[in-house]
Amino acid sequence: MLVIEHARVATMTGPQAGAADAPLAIVERGAVACEDDRITYVGRASGAPPGGERIDAQGALLAPGLIDPHTHLIFAGDRAREHAQRLAGATYAQIAQAGGGIRSTVEATRAASDDQLLAGARERLARLVRSGVTTVEVKTGYGLSVHQELRLLRIARAAGRRAGCEVLPTLLALHAVPPDSDRIDWLRAVVQELIPEAAREGARGCDAFLEKGAFDADECRTALEAGGQAGLVCHLHADQLSASGGAQLAAELECASADHLERATREGIQALARAGTTAVLLPLAAWFLRDRAAQAQPFLDAGITVALGSNINPGTQRIESVSMLLAAGCLLAGLTPAQALWSCTAGAAKALRLNDRGVLRVGLRADLVLFSCADAAHLPYHAGVEHARVVVHGGEVVHRAPALTC
Ligand code: NIG
Repeated sequence: MLVIEHARVATMTGPQAGAADAPLAIVERGAVACEDDRITYVGRASGAPPGGERIDAQGALLAPGLIDPHTHLIFAGDRAREHAQRLAGATYAQIAQAGGGIRSTVEATRAASDDQLLAGARERLARLVRSGVTTVEVKTGYGLSVHQELRLLRIARAAGRRAGCEVLPTLLALHAVPPDSDRIDWLRAVVQELIPEAAREGARGCDAFLEKGAFDADECRTALEAGGQAGLVCHLHADQLSASGGAQLAAELECASADHLERATREGIQALARAGTTAVLLPLAAWFLRDRAAQAQPFLDAGITVALGSNINPGTQRIESVSMLLAAGCLLAGLTPAQALWSCTAGAAKALRLNDRGVLRVGLRADLVLFSCADAAHLPYHAGVEHARVVVHGGEVVHRAPALTC
């Protein structure tokens, strides 16, 4: 048994849109006990079960392990030069049309060995674990052939073994038209071969990129319907660079999440609200592209659950830090610190349709993060350093760091 005691326990069972610290639903002078990979006690420290290994939180904040619901962290190569080109005025679309963008990462990824891709993915996952992340969604999308996409899925699953976090692989075959295929042939191969095989190979989710220069609504609908029929949890890259009806399509298909949403319209937001689809905001990507981040408030006002994702990828977001994500969630998307932390736990669990984590309750997974600070407001304030002091995944301590003192 593991007991973390004398903590401010942020159970995350409060309402996301609540004021001040309401979303956190804190138990003061609290404790959480775990037996094997389950939580067995959440409450006042005075009532915690005796014995076991004990960690004294010394009044610091204890939260559910963080969940990153949107990453593209299996890739090879480097697009720093594209970043510099954008900083000099080029747009994402212009760079893609000139042969850069996703296709350049596809070329580098195909050329990399399994070991190289695995090593890169493990390093990035390790950095997330040190930030307090215990669940990571990982998309394919840089293979873009049946063989290569299945290879990336296998590498995602391998990267998750003994990583200190759980990896949930998502098939993103409709990320770009493959350099060596026609869009109609690719869509046929995705629906007829890749999706059924990916579901057998352990993919959990299915995603598509609805955007000018990527795929249109009919193509995304065809792929996501096939994904849903294969039992995959559906997500959609929606309204990122243009208002493309992405939120409406995600709602129509009852996707678990619509992601990006920088250009979601009022009608799109209403459609997401009616469908109960979670809005995954990716403010670090908007910052990276020097775009305006999606604002959380209209989604919260409509009663939509908001999650935050890192969107780690080689092109539009290369910052691997939850601390920076929380800061961007507040400074760029307009969340309060408590709402931002809720978005990275309870909100992100809903975006991935995970009912066994994201809040602290008896019987749920023993995934926890003990921060150095006592107050959630400190996390986005003192950004750029990681505040996770103890990270517990499945009841095992997977990371310890000295408490920050300044
Ligand atoms: O979420 N929008 C599509 N996919 C990524 C970008 C991927 C890339 O440029 O390599 C994103 O921003």
